[in-house]
Amino acid sequence: MDPIVVAELFRVDLDAIHAIETAQFDDPWSLRVLRDELDAPNRRYTKATRGGEIVGYLGVMLVDAEAHVNTIATTPAAEGTGVATALLADAIRALAATGVRDVTLEVASRNLRAQRLYSRFGFAPVGVRRGYYPHSGDDAVVMWVRDVHTPSYAAKLASIEAA
Ligand SMILES: CC(C)(COP(=O)(O)OP(=O)(O)OC[C@H]1O[C@@H](n2cnc3c(N)ncnc32)[C@H](O)[C@@H]1OP(=O)(O)O)[C@@H](O)C(=O)NCCC(=O)NCCS
Repeated sequence: MDPIVVAELFRVDLDAIHAIETAQFDDPWSLRVLRDELDAPNRRYTKATRGGEIVGYLGVMLVDAEAHVNTIATTPAAEGTGVATALLADAIRALAATGVRDVTLEVASRNLRAQRLYSRFGFAPVGVRRGYYPHSGDDAVVMWVRDVHTPSYAAKLASIEAA
């Protein structure tokens, strides 16, 4: 299998990203929302490619020494092949290098696959937002990982990638 390459996401990529959104979310972002997100300040959007094809993407919002993972998805065909792991590892490493200490996200309580992914990265649940997702009515689990700037977390990232 070709290696996964993570790189900056540009406007020209947005049709491919929108196709993934539509395939993977009940309530997908429109192209316009994606474009506005990309243009907004304090964002970091990346794409994962394999053999030149876009297979996933990740968007982060930065607030001082905290980062919020706004979105992450892979193509249905690429699920379970390490794409999200590569995107998250790249993002947390880059964020930590710029002074980010803690990272948070919300995940649907029924989305156990995503929760497994986040747990491997050390994200732990700290609360629940009831009925957060309007389309499904599902609750959101709020997760945090602390101290991603430390050498011990860098070692954790290295072991996740090696696995
Ligand atoms: C949630 C989501 C992003 C996970 O992406 P993914 O690419 O499947 O994640 P990964 O492949 O990195 O890891 C998932 C599994 O593959 C395994 N894996 C990781 N690297 C691997 C590799 N190189 N080869 C084979 N399997 C691998 C992992 O062990 C993991 O197994 P587990 O699910 O039993 O824990 C993806 O399923 C998705 O897009 N879902 C729809 C959108 C969504 O729910 N987004 C999250 C919103 S909060």
